[in-house]
Amino acid sequence: MDTRINFSGRSIKYTEEEIACVVKAMRDAEPLTQGRYMREFEAKFATYQGVAEGSCFTTCNGCAALEMSAQLCCFKPGDEFVIPSHTFTASCYPYIKHGGKPVFADIDLNTRVVTAESIAKVLTKKTKAVIVVHLYGFAADMPPIVKLCQERGLILIEDTAQAIGSTLNGQKAGSFGDHAIFSFHSHKNLTTLGEGGMLYVADPKLWPLIPPLRHNGHCSYDTQPVYWKPAMGNVDLPYLDNTPLLPNNYSLGEIECALGAKMLERIDKINAEKRARALDFIDNLSDLPQLEFHREATSRHNYHLLACRVTGGEELRDRIMQHLFKDYGIKCVVQYLPLNRYPFYQRLGFGLANCPNADLFFDTMISFPFQHWLSQEDFNYMLESTRKVVQEYA
Ligand SMILES: Cc1ncc(COP(=O)(O)O)c(C=O)c1O
Repeated sequence: MDTRINFSGRSIKYTEEEIACVVKAMRDAEPLTQGRYMREFEAKFATYQGVAEGSCFTTCNGCAALEMSAQLCCFKPGDEFVIPSHTFTASCYPYIKHGGKPVFADIDLNTRVVTAESIAKVLTKKTKAVIVVHLYGFAADMPPIVKLCQERGLILIEDTAQAIGSTLNGQKAGSFGDHAIFSFHSHKNLTTLGEGGMLYVADPKLWPLIPPLRHNGHCSYDTQPVYWKPAMGNVDLPYLDNTPLLPNNYSLGEIECALGAKMLERIDKINAEKRARALDFIDNLSDLPQLEFHREATSRHNYHLLACRVTGGEELRDRIMQHLFKDYGIKCVVQYLPLNRYPFYQRLGFGLANCPNADLFFDTMISFPFQHWLSQEDFNYMLESTRKVVQEYA
């Protein structure tokens, strides 16, 4: 059968107001990069996050924000960073590129994110940083992780790529750590025309470094007799912790920034609608013991993704997926091969991990198509088809 419900690479449809805002920016933005729309997006984002104005920096994608966060870590030979093995590859490799050695922490089987306990188990004297990933959109339990990192003097980084708007005790995910990154990729609940990102840095002393780090080392000369001599702008970046900072061009264009600022007005509504749908799906299938969902009724989960675990194991999972695809045209996917199991990481010497929950979850998980714009008819069809298929294997 033809695919009826695809696992779409596009999460949302834009409103006419959002399209008008893009068109307006296309007409009036000057310059087309690093102008007033960028400043507006960064200021609004900081307000949305409940963090200090000046602490948020737009980037061309989430990976670019991770790259800069990795640079700020100033890893020295032998330094380690702790990261869940169950995450998207971009959470990890920027920190390797900038000199860190990954050490994998296990996830909790129910929440699919790391805990203070699973992190504590793999800390060593060489650990310099800890990366927490709020995967699938669920905010990890940050207060004990913050405490642990403070006690051990570790840099705490939140990969909030999937968890915009998720909160823990009223505080936004991505506002607990020393750094946080966000992604506005096509697949995310908030997307700035397919690519985009944000870096949050808590320490105000580091803020002046970020614009030149983001954009070719450009910073203005403080005093020069005429504005064009010796050059229109200085190119400079100081050493940080005895480590040279090499610049990048990770800027996000003005049109994307205009849209990002506008979309912040709707993100809570999008998240609430996705959450309501996820709960509908989970509750309607709650009589099927073969499927184990993570049910979270509060804004701690933005249900960026809707994933479950098949309790009967990998073979049953594969049969269910195949049946849904072949006979019902529903394309579910399996996500986040534990990083230590990728040949890429193995070749680099990072193939070892003791993460049985991550392995079990990955080997038995199903991620359902969950784009925000899925029609109610298709949603109902997916629900009923899933029920029929799973019941066949009861
Ligand atoms: C958990 C996670 N981290 C990092 C990224 C990287 O973000 P981007 O695609 O915007 O570079 C993504 C998404 O793509 C992600 O899901």
